[in-house]
Amino acid sequence: MVLKCPQRCKNAAQNPTGTTADPDVNGEAISELGTAQSENGKVIMPAATVRFEIPFSVPGASRNGTFAGPSTPCAYRSESKSSCSYPKYLFLTSWLGNNNQSQVSIFAGMAGNTFGQIFRLTTFGESHGAAIGGIIDGCPAGLEISTEFIQRELDRRRPGQSDLSTPRKESDTVEILSGIFEGRTTGQPIAFVIRNADQRSKDYGKLKDVYRPSHADYTFEAKYGIRDHRGGGRSSARETACRVAGGAVAKQLLSAALGAEIRGYVSAVAEARLEVPPETLDFSLPENEVRCPHPETAQRMRSLIEGARDSGDTLGGAVSCIITGVPPGLGEPVFDKLHADLGKAVLSINAVKGFEIGSGFAAAGMRGSEHNDAFEMHDGKPATLTNHSGGVQGGISNGMNINFTAAFKPVASIKTAQKTVTRSGEAAEIEIGGRHDPCVLPRAVPIVEAMAALVLADHYLRNRTVKL
Ligand SMILES: Cc1cc2nc3c(=O)[nH]c(=O)nc-3n(C[C@H](O)[C@H](O)[C@H](O)COP(=O)(O)O)c2cc1C
Repeated sequence: MVLKCPQRCKNAAQNPTGTTADPDVNGEAISELGTAQSENGKVIMPAATVRFEIPFSVPGASRNGTFAGPSTPCAYRSESKSSCSYPKYLFLTSWLGNNNQSQVSIFAGMAGNTFGQIFRLTTFGESHGAAIGGIIDGCPAGLEISTEFIQRELDRRRPGQSDLSTPRKESDTVEILSGIFEGRTTGQPIAFVIRNADQRSKDYGKLKDVYRPSHADYTFEAKYGIRDHRGGGRSSARETACRVAGGAVAKQLLSAALGAEIRGYVSAVAEARLEVPPETLDFSLPENEVRCPHPETAQRMRSLIEGARDSGDTLGGAVSCIITGVPPGLGEPVFDKLHADLGKAVLSINAVKGFEIGSGFAAAGMRGSEHNDAFEMHDGKPATLTNHSGGVQGGISNGMNINFTAAFKPVASIKTAQKTVTRSGEAAEIEIGGRHDPCVLPRAVPIVEAMAALVLADHYLRNRTVKL
């Protein structure tokens, strides 16, 4: 099929990935986009043929460049280039409507601000900007939504909850802008914002020209050539509030559709590890400030966090998660295995360094005779006697509880002096002021749960298309 590109294509060209740098597109697209294959209602276009030409005017660039692909137009990047193409990328286009009246929207995972395939969350905003927020697309209509629940989830993540977390005071009040009417989803994009309130940008003045060790300062600058030094901009974990809001909608979908529940808890803070089997934990207890549902271990964790706080250091740890009520069948057998998608989701959380599902790394030291999860019939359905698989086999949920653990590093903001370099390459010493968490683990629990909810909601919806 040869796609005819209508004039609306210029919208895609103007801002295909949500980047802010729009060329001043004056003209219309030419007609031919290239040869494409149609698959399940989507059009997959080989990158080499994705070419459309739009006369555009960008100061200092050719008025008649060839703008190809979803990236920021190359004319923006290099004034010497008047045309560009990105042959190494495959672009996924969605074909809405028919023939040459159709709109072609082009997007790709390059900028990575969107997560999911059907249930999709896009987040925006920075730590010290006006607001952060997101758009959830693909949430089916008719789902009853409690905005109070979304707010409660945000309250579990927000800073300043106890003397163990950063004193930055953010109410993290969510405002729903669209997609919910009379308490139900309308099937339209659900947009929300959370305004930033307690920014103290001056705390970050000293960080303008130096790179914080083990933070994202150097890598941002190496990649973009510009960075918002105030609180880390987009690399700040403030962004994760949007994931929690999106995850709260996903949780409500999973609860309504499957009765599934996702429970995260802190299973380690530094050397204080929760040693009891997860099935003995009592989740009916109100969450304590450490979010470890075992009071004795929670007390040990608390003492360690206080010690780190008082000495200006930070501590790592682990968040574990148990998901109940997931039926067999979620997850795809090859690249989009359920545990692979959970792994990506969890590893995309700031400061996460490891992910394991079921027996995880311990499996490497076991024998098959120990590790195999024997089957028996339970209520007329196959069930396993043990759950080393963590509820996923062959990338597909098997109906048992899904359990996984995420390892968090001790975050970078320590108060002791550290060796670093400046932007201009001089040796320097840095002491990080500002307000930071000595241990982010308690606040990370709702973030981990949210990412798991997004993955499961997406796979639940995907799974509804696989058989008659
Ligand atoms: C809830 C939460 C709060 C965080 N707060 C801080 C903080 O106060 N200081 C800090 O250096 N890093 C903090 N981080 C981690 C940084 O965002 C993260 O380390 C940084 O973006 C670099 O990414 P990386 O550690 O994944 O490589 C926090 C992470 C989470 C999940």
